[in-house]
Amino acid sequence: MRRRPFGNTRRKAPVIGQGTWRLDEGDRASAVRALRRGLDLGLDHIDTAEMYGDAELMVGEAVEGRREEVLLVSKVLPGNATRAGVAAACERSLRRLATDYLDAYLLHWRGGIPLAETVQGFEDLRAAGKILWWGVSNFDVGDLDDLAKATAGAGSPGGPVCNQVLYHLEERAIEHALLARCEEAEMAVVGYSPFGHGRFPPPGSPGGEVLARIAAVHGAAPRQVALAFLTRKAPLFAIPKAASPDHAIENAGAGDLILSAGEITMIDRAFPRGARPRSLPMI
Ligand SMILES: NC(=O)c1ccc[n+]([C@@H]2O[C@H](COP(=O)([O-])OP(=O)(O)OC[C@H]3O[C@@H](n4cnc5c(N)ncnc54)[C@H](OP(=O)(O)O)[C@@H]3O)[C@@H](O)[C@H]2O)c1
Repeated sequence: MRRRPFGNTRRKAPVIGQGTWRLDEGDRASAVRALRRGLDLGLDHIDTAEMYGDAELMVGEAVEGRREEVLLVSKVLPGNATRAGVAAACERSLRRLATDYLDAYLLHWRGGIPLAETVQGFEDLRAAGKILWWGVSNFDVGDLDDLAKATAGAGSPGGPVCNQVLYHLEERAIEHALLARCEEAEMAVVGYSPFGHGRFPPPGSPGGEVLARIAAVHGAAPRQVALAFLTRKAPLFAIPKAASPDHAIENAGAGDLILSAGEITMIDRAFPRGARPRSLPMI
């Protein structure tokens, strides 16, 4: 499993982690097994959120007895992101996750509450040892500029460790400016919905054919090729969600797959990044 520093921390995280949105919708026992199998194979960055229903409970079950192995991330909803609201939401998440700390706690997306307040809330939690780091999600370049001002005002020495953003083969908007901006700020860029939230290029489609050709060269699966592309350089990470243990196994297999420059060019041409959108796409 390729690992790289997670933002400005010294922690090395696996390039492939595990998402948990809608994990509670199917066979829960199987989904918990998938998470544990993923952990066995090095997918030890787990992403969850207070928004994800019972997923936090299931993650708590999956990490029982092995909490220290995991880079555990949860997210606060923007409507709860006042200074006091962040503290209360974190307590609820900790209880559901059956742990006493989060590795990172993120603002799920930007809402109406002033960023300085949210940062104060995060810093309170850091001082209390309830979170090691904090970060953001769905923040565009302008949002990061505003955050930098808020962070300076709130006296936050650590700053955000990551920005979790939509990134898959057919949605490469972050490559226009955001990726470089995050790299400059030493933030990890954690790509969510790496399989297009279930809409992966099908076999037989032009893009699917390119993935299949590259996959055949490596004895790999097309999704593994996609994950390798999406994590091809620092500071990129991907967090596919897999409720099935077989899917978790396949995703973990992408952790050691390295594409050649020629293969990266082939994928780049098959899935062009397109024009820069007016605002950062999110789902
Ligand atoms: N910050 C945000 O605003 C935000 C937004 C969206 C998502 N996220 C995070 O990102 C995570 C991933 O995104 P996502 O859940 O939207 O979608 P995704 O990871 O792009 O796709 C998940 C789908 O792919 C399937 N899958 C996974 N591995 C597979 C494999 N090896 N072969 C075939 N199918 C496979 C899953 O099936 P099974 O489940 O049946 O295995 C599921 O149907 C979320 O779970 C969440 O943690 C964050």
